[in-house]
Amino acid sequence: MSTPGVEEVDDVPRALLLENIDPVAVEVLGNAGYEVESVRGALDEGDLVAALDGVDVLGIRSKTQVTAEVLRRRPDLKAVGAFCIGTNQIDLATAAGTGVAVFNAPYSNTRSVVELAIAEIISLARRLLDRDRALHSGTWDKSASGSHEVRGRTLGIVGYGNIGSQLSVLAEALGMRVVFYDLEEKLALGNAESCSSLDELLERAEAVTLHVDGRGGNAGLFGAEQFAKMRPRSLFLNLSRGFVVDHEALRDHILSGHIAGAAVDVFPDEPREQGDPFTSVLRGLPNVILTPHVGGSTQEAQYDIGRFVAGKLADYSRAGTTTLSVNLPTVALHGGSGERFAVLHRNVPGVLARVDALVGEHGLNVDGQVLATRGELGYVLTDVNAVMPDDLLTALRALPETIRLTTFAHRRD
Ligand SMILES: NC(=O)c1ccc[n+]([C@@H]2O[C@H](COP(=O)([O-])OP(=O)(O)OC[C@H]3O[C@@H](n4cnc5c(N)ncnc54)[C@H](O)[C@@H]3O)[C@@H](O)[C@H]2O)c1
Repeated sequence: MSTPGVEEVDDVPRALLLENIDPVAVEVLGNAGYEVESVRGALDEGDLVAALDGVDVLGIRSKTQVTAEVLRRRPDLKAVGAFCIGTNQIDLATAAGTGVAVFNAPYSNTRSVVELAIAEIISLARRLLDRDRALHSGTWDKSASGSHEVRGRTLGIVGYGNIGSQLSVLAEALGMRVVFYDLEEKLALGNAESCSSLDELLERAEAVTLHVDGRGGNAGLFGAEQFAKMRPRSLFLNLSRGFVVDHEALRDHILSGHIAGAAVDVFPDEPREQGDPFTSVLRGLPNVILTPHVGGSTQEAQYDIGRFVAGKLADYSRAGTTTLSVNLPTVALHGGSGERFAVLHRNVPGVLARVDALVGEHGLNVDGQVLATRGELGYVLTDVNAVMPDDLLTALRALPETIRLTTFAHRRD
């Protein structure tokens, strides 16, 4: 039986997946009881609003814009899965304020980036692309000059997060020495050594690779001054963000021979569409590998993104779990085999007490409960010992702080 104003998760839920998301997502959501529709392309605002009629969960990649208008016009939408890393295409604040949970896949392509970095470090050290180009153009240029093993060389990793730290492990497995610099205190893996400053890293490393995040303060992090401080004939890689490197300065240092080679996967102004022209001052330089932001683009990463995000959406609709949500307070309540409800609410004092008082007044007992807050939002998951009467649901919905009330009536482990 449904109660006005209360989200029921018992009915057959519907998911709409746009932009050619990996089929594993259909499988995961199907197993979670969803009726899933997949569409190859993105939809513009008007078409998206129309397509969301009766849809509980939307899956997108980077091209579909989930605007405030879309969210306002489809108040029944419960969650959005960004089957990618970035979430700029979603109005996260409006989504949170209207009780729409957003999930993404922050780690699914970490390994892909690391493997490309390893391949590029070896390729640059061996001047592989120059040899390849020469041979393709008919020139036999067999020489050891300028070719090096990476074994025993020192790799300097700037930004020792998910990617930087995994790269550290693989580089050591190749016999490289690893030094790293991070703004935060990080556990050094294996034999890697932490540097106390970027300058110290630049003094020690023979190959410098950037894996910093996209915080505003990193704009122009690496320019003429930093290139000049690198060891002569060292290698440089950037697979993080385009705006952290001054490409004019990199070009100057490659042409002067101070930098022996570079690999760049990310650019300050990247073409929007497949096939669009690409301009860069780095084009045509010797021993420079340019790739079109494909560090994380592998079929394995796409599969993992599909599996991961669909799993988060399934956990959210099955049990109210918001672990790794990018816009809601993150909570998981394990176990529980009875009735569960979630109250997403404005984060003001006393809401938990009012929720529990209402439960008690209706003769129910709280079996398990967990609350988290995030900025102006609070989210509480509660297991109770018996079926919740409709007037309790109505009272919870009527609390002035409630943004969204959701009930769950299935066994969870
Ligand atoms: N090329 C691609 O296709 C691709 C794919 C995935 C991720 N990325 C990018 O790679 C970067 C790293 O990703 P991640 O998942 O490892 O991120 P992360 O957040 O796990 O790690 C980033 C690390 O950089 C550190 N950091 C930030 N600014 C710094 C600075 N100025 N100096 C030193 N350390 C600094 C942070 O403290 C953090 O430890 C991100 O910018 C991400 O967008 C690129």
